[in-house]
This record gives sequence, structure tokens and C-alpha cells, in this order.
Amino acid sequence: MRIGIIVGSHRKDSQSAKVGRYLASVIERRRGVSHWTLDLGKTPLPLWDEALFSQGEQWSGLPALKAQLDSSDAFVMIAPEWHGMVPAALKNFLLLWGAGSALSHKPALPCAVSASAGGAYVIAELRMSSYKNNRLCWLPENLIARRVKAICNEDAAVDDAALQAEFSARSEYAIDLLVAYANALRDVRALDIIDHETFMNGL
Ligand SMILES: Cc1cc2nc3c(=O)[nH]c(=O)nc-3n(C[C@H](O)[C@H](O)[C@H](O)COP(=O)(O)O)c2cc1C
Repeated sequence: MRIGIIVGSHRKDSQSAKVGRYLASVIERRRGVSHWTLDLGKTPLPLWDEALFSQGEQWSGLPALKAQLDSSDAFVMIAPEWHGMVPAALKNFLLLWGAGSALSHKPALPCAVSASAGGAYVIAELRMSSYKNNRLCWLPENLIARRVKAICNEDAAVDDAALQAEFSARSEYAIDLLVAYANALRDVRALDIIDHETFMNGL
């Protein structure tokens, strides 16, 4: 099994990337589960335009990314809360994949990141939109890395022990659930009932 971690901050050295590294270490402890990361701060994607459909030069890197997504059974989507919103880089990423794409009918764990006590808005935003056409399946469990500077640090001595324990327990639980959903949704994708020709766009 393979899990893709998508880091949604525009910043090259973001707290979201730090949380991504922490969640990668949680995934690594599951036998037979590997991971890869797309950090949209370090590897920005072009903004969506029509040349996407005519192999425009700016999209030359897309087949390699598609191959990574195709080989993934599940995703962790990390979204810092910026002005109460999901950053444009992550929305743009989600815009690139439609019905029957590499995201369709695969589970995704949303993880919000906030420097303070925020994060709920981006979880609501991801759940409300972002999956209609690509059919990504948001897990009914999410993570919010609140007071993010006090958790998930490479040097654990810098962490707030109580906050870290809380985030760690939820992360272990949520990643176990993600793996279970990934196994279950493989069976759903194998059924002969998914029809994206008749029902290309969701309502
Ligand atoms: C443009 C911008 C807007 C932000 N708005 C919010 C916000 O609305 N709520 C919040 O809790 N934190 C907000 N923050 C702080 C982020 O939570 C903080 O930068 C955190 O480190 C996550 O962002 P990062 O992954 O890019 O580092 C904002 C940060 C930036 C750069």
C-alpha cells in the first residue's frame, strides 16, 4: 500500500511540511505501507489553464505526478489555514483531477494546520467542495495541528508534551483508519458499477 502526502502551503519551509514529515513517520510504522510527498511550496504547480488538455509545455511534469497519484491507494492532504481559507496551491492541485482520475474513489485524510487555535474552516472547506468531480473520498475523521510550532518538531524537547501527546494519539488513530479505508475502497474501485461516462460531473 502507498500513501501520498500532499503539503498545501505555498511556503518553501512550511509548518505544514513539518507536520507532513511527522505523519510520514507515523505511516512508516505500519507494515507494508509506504509513502511519498508532494510539497507544493517546494514544487509549485502551474495555475490551471486550458493547455492542461493539449499537453502545453507548462504541464510537462504532469504525467510523472499522475503516475505517483495513480500508484497511491490513499492520501493525506495538509492545508494550513490562511485567512480562514485553504491556500490556492492546494485548491489548484485539486482542480487538476476530474472524474475517473488518480484521486477517484480513494480515501483522503484532511489535516489542517494553524499557528493558533484555528484550522476548522479549512476542514469544512475541503469537505464542502473539492471532491465533486474528482470523487475523492474524505475520511470521516480529520486532524488539526493547532499551535503547530509547539508540536511535531524534529527536536521533541521543543514540543509542548501535552499537545504533542494529543496530536500523536489522533494521528495514530486516523492513519490506521486511512489504511483500513484504503483497503476497503480498493474493492469498491474493482466493482463494475463506477460509471464516469454517464455521470462525468457530480451534482
Ligand atoms: C497569509 C497567511 C494567512 C494566515 N491566516 C491564518 C488564519 O486565518 N488562521 C490561522 O489559524 N492561522 C493563519 N495563519 C498562520 C498559519 O496558521 C501559520 O503560518 C502556520 O505556520 C501554517 O502555515 P505554513 O504551513 O505555511 O507554515 C496565516 C498565515 C499566513 C502566511
